[in-house]
Amino acid sequence: MRIYLIGYMGCGKSTLGRRLSEHLNLQFIDMDHYIEMRNHRTIPQIFAEEGEAEFRNKERKALEELSEFTDIVVATGGGAPCFFDNIDLMNRSGKTIYINIDPAILADRLLNSKIERPLIKGKSKDELVAFIDETLKKRNHFYKQAKFEITQPDIDLSEIEKLISWKSNPMQ
Ligand code: S3P
Repeated sequence: MRIYLIGYMGCGKSTLGRRLSEHLNLQFIDMDHYIEMRNHRTIPQIFAEEGEAEFRNKERKALEELSEFTDIVVATGGGAPCFFDNIDLMNRSGKTIYINIDPAILADRLLNSKIERPLIKGKSKDELVAFIDETLKKRNHFYKQAKFEITQPDIDLSEIEKLISWKSNPMQ
């Protein structure tokens, strides 16, 4: 059993992932945290020292490793499904759930977040809204390939269970 939560930065993947993992008695893994542990550096350090392209290589490698773990809920990085054939790998190895949140809400959440995110560092609210609009246009194509989609991260967990009806297909 593997569940991948995907969606834009700030959509609530980690919070939902923790709740869902407890509810289903699975291990929770935050993919960014996993990359940091494996590389002994923080995400901002990797971006600053090696650039985004190398971060994406490390992200792909992390995904390849995680796709062999069993009984996990993974909160993926916001860009993870949008590079290489990562979304295919996720769909092949588990159940993918896209948390589709309104861009204006994403912008508010990101402005209030304490997590350092290299791609949006230092942006004003207007710049952030424009950046979200622009990147979502490119990313939606990948996010929409998720097997399931929800529109709020604080969804009732039994609703998710029903949605993915995991008991009927325990192989994934
Ligand atoms: C990124 C999202 C981040 C992190 C990195 C790049 C992105 O993860 O992987 O800063 O490209 O959207 P979160 O979605 O957990 O913030």
